Amino acid sequence: MIINKQTDEKAGMRKEHKMSENREKEVILNAKDLSKSFSNESVQQHVLKNLNLSIYKGDFTVIMGNSGSGKSTLLYALSGMDRPSLGTITYNTEDNGPDKKNSKRYSSAGGIEISKFNNDQLALFRRDHCGFVFQQNYLNDSMSALDNVMVSGLLKTKDRKALAAKAKELLGRVEISEQDWKKFPAQLSGGQQQRVAVVRGVINSPEVLFADEPTGALNSQNTINVLDILTDLNNEGQSIVMVTHTVKAAERANRVIYLADGIITDEVDLGPYIGDYKDETNPNKEEAVQRHRKLKDFLGAMGW
Ligand SMILES: Nc1ncnc2c1ncn2[C@@H]1O[C@H](COP(=O)(O)OP(=O)(O)O)[C@@H](O)[C@H]1O
Ligand SMILES: [Mg+2]
Repeated sequence: MIINKQTDEKAGMRKEHKMSENREKEVILNAKDLSKSFSNESVQQHVLKNLNLSIYKGDFTVIMGNSGSGKSTLLYALSGMDRPSLGTITYNTEDNGPDKKNSKRYSSAGGIEISKFNNDQLALFRRDHCGFVFQQNYLNDSMSALDNVMVSGLLKTKDRKALAAKAKELLGRVEISEQDWKKFPAQLSGGQQQRVAVVRGVINSPEVLFADEPTGALNSQNTINVLDILTDLNNEGQSIVMVTHTVKAAERANRVIYLADGIITDEVDLGPYIGDYKDETNPNKEEAVQRHRKLKDFLGAMGW
């Protein structure tokens, strides 16, 4: 059997990853007694019901569940896009540049509790710690691909030159070629647009990349491309929390959490992604088939 270098290297990376999973995992963020309600025409809708959840550093965590179960609401609460009605969300992260003179800044002593933050504090927190990818790419139509990434980066750094180098390197890695850097989103394919959006999501090296149905609007080849990029980022240590309702996307996670009616009903530990279970050239095919079955069984038990 011929194993190409890339596969070999990837297998090596996975081995390391696996070993590190046996060690105690570091909690990157913790949600405690989380509830979220909306008032719709004087009727209170309880969307998240007293959730407790920890997210671990280096994990590719997927949140699955039926439409309307509260997945997006949970992702928005965890990422500081929105505030919970009740409960706390604490990040165990170092603040990388507190400005003592700026009252809008927060302190990181004893973890960063974001649930009571005002809008300015949340915006700063997100800028410094979180990256986002959505189903719609939300690129700015009037800016080039490169500028879309740069604008996000310039929120955090003034070093334009270093930022441009990083942006170009990342765009290259997601196969957005130099001739496409100057193109506007409308001149790029949907798949290219979403790859630019992923680069924008990671340009500030976020502690967690949050993704809400990032492949929901893509065809199957573009879906694979974007999932491959997320898998590569995760193999390099990027923590990811992704909402999806497809098995194909969920398979990329090492941990899948199931949400039903605003409650976490169960979760499954899959271990790291080991390639497409249908790919005859996958050296881990047999293991991958079993891993796929484990996920399907779990989802079956959840009534999926
Ligand atoms: N901003 C909002 N205002 C009122 N209701 C909302 C709001 N956001 C979500 N909801 C309601 O919360 C429920 C869960 O929504 P959501 O978290 O988007 O579910 P999912 O992402 O799992 O499909 C839905 O019934 C939705 O109508
Ligand atoms: Mg949603």
